Amino acid sequence: MTKEEKYENLLAQVKAFADAENDEIALMANVAALIHETMGFWWTGFYRVVGQELVLGPFQGPVACTRIKFGRGVCGTAWKEKRTIIVDDVEQFPGHIACSSASKSEIVVPIFSDGNVIAELDIDSEKLSTFDKIDKNYLEKITMLYLSPKSMVLR
Ligand code: SME
Repeated sequence: MTKEEKYENLLAQVKAFADAENDEIALMANVAALIHETMGFWWTGFYRVVGQELVLGPFQGPVACTRIKFGRGVCGTAWKEKRTIIVDDVEQFPGHIACSSASKSEIVVPIFSDGNVIAELDIDSEKLSTFDKIDKNYLEKITMLYLSPKSMVLR
């Protein structure tokens, strides 16, 4: 299966779970598991904005840092810059927070509510340069269609 085919399968599965459940934590938990299992990543999970920090949410993979400050690491930078960030080699990213030394590349996709970042999808790979435009497009689609508060209310 190509990466696109895997993501198309994933989209259909996420839609089925999202149609059946609108509790955001329950949905994040199953979406993390679906992405992780379907794509075979090293670590897949969510951080939620709570006050001035990102706090660890549902995830699959090894234990991770529980709190990240605004502007810190890849996650805090994606929050500050309000955009998806792809890092080909985490060792080259200034301030990268190493939750696991096995992690080599990373993508962080913010989830928005009325233009504010309210959560993030964070995925780590144990290989360099894992993530590209295809991952960005599909993961942004998943977060926008199924995890943004607006999409939850509309369903
Ligand atoms: N590497 C991230 C921290 C979170 S873990 O990868 C799960 C960062 O630099 O923000």
